[in-house]
Amino acid sequence: MKRIAVPAVLLALGAAVLLSVMAQNAPDAPAPAPTAAAEKKDVVCFEGRKGATDVTQRELKPGLPNVKCSPTTGAALWYGDPYDGTVAMAKMPNMDNIPEGHAVVSPRTPHLKQLAACGTACHNGTYPKGFPTSKEATPIPTMEAMMPELKDFQHGRGGIWCLDCHHTTQRNKFTDNFGKPISMDEPQSLCGKCHGDKLRDWRDGIHGKRIGDFTSTGKKRWFTCSECHNPHNVQDGARNRGFAQLQPEPPPQLPKGMKSAEFEKTHPIAH
Ligand code: HEC
Ligand code: HEC
Ligand code: HEC
Repeated sequence: MKRIAVPAVLLALGAAVLLSVMAQNAPDAPAPAPTAAAEKKDVVCFEGRKGATDVTQRELKPGLPNVKCSPTTGAALWYGDPYDGTVAMAKMPNMDNIPEGHAVVSPRTPHLKQLAACGTACHNGTYPKGFPTSKEATPIPTMEAMMPELKDFQHGRGGIWCLDCHHTTQRNKFTDNFGKPISMDEPQSLCGKCHGDKLRDWRDGIHGKRIGDFTSTGKKRWFTCSECHNPHNVQDGARNRGFAQLQPEPPPQLPKGMKSAEFEKTHPIAH
């Protein structure tokens, strides 16, 4: 059986090569009808946080992809249009110096899969009997079943709970310190109520990330807090630090003529 199978595979491969050569020689030939196997699979990469900031690669115009992604880590590394899919950032205090429409963000709402149900199906402003409405930490089995990360909630070292961030009656909104709702597309206004120092750093461009036109008043896309931080797991479990580490990119290609970069690992001055 085996002796027949091997040449059959070779024959199939040979035919495939032949076909592709033929295809190259005949540029005007009509494209072959797509078969299930030949259909291109979507390339999905992530921006800040794997699984929470997915972006699907597509062409903005022929030859210009919206993003190019790292083949090793799957992270978005290059943008055909840094403003693709963005909306104007909501006004915040002390940002008056930015020209209208020059600060944009990628809205979070399309990435939140539970959200559609949050404010309507379950938390529509009335609560089933015994439903937690206080800020006390209370296990919520129904929520834990939907989002296992909530079982071992790692933010604030036991000091904060759901309703410190999520609105009491409008569950598809966050809450400010006075109970006023904040859109889930503006996590910076939520995080900033407790991390004022980080919000100021972010606003000044010392924390976070921006892409776009780098002239001082140029239009930029600002990455919002929850594009990088998982709000339910900022202490990152075992690591107990503020950020789940990303897989680093491999080192870049060495400059022409350089054989090794080992010297960079040695310190010129003995300790
Ligand atoms: C520190 C603030 C904070 C606390 C405390 C918090 N959350 Fe969240 N939660 C957020 C933010 C911010 C988002 C939006 C995340 C994003 O943009 O990716 C979110 C999103 C969610 C979502 C929507 C997720 C989705 O993918 O659709 C649910 C459901 C949720 N939280 C439930 C809870 C529950 C239940 C608790 C309490 C056990 C809780 N949260 C505690 C900040 C918080
Ligand atoms: C209700 C107040 C509150 C809100 C809102 C809040 N945090 Fe926190 N956060 C805390 C507290 C308290 C800690 C624990 C600080 C500590 O242990 O020193 C913390 C810790 C953190 C840490 C870890 C810091 C470290 O040193 O390990 C990060 C990162 C963080 N928060 C990010 C965020 C982000 C992003 C948001 C918005 C989605 C947010 N926080 C919203 C109260 C808050
Ligand atoms: C582009 C990604 C990115 C964005 C956007 C971002 N952060 Fe961070 N943040 C980081 C990284 C990376 C660290 C360092 C984590 C570490 O040292 O483990 C950090 C650290 C922190 C810490 C802990 C600081 C400490 O001293 O350990 C807090 C709190 C925090 N960020 C809050 C925020 C808030 C609030 C926002 C939005 C206003 C925000 N971050 C936006 C990437 C980001």
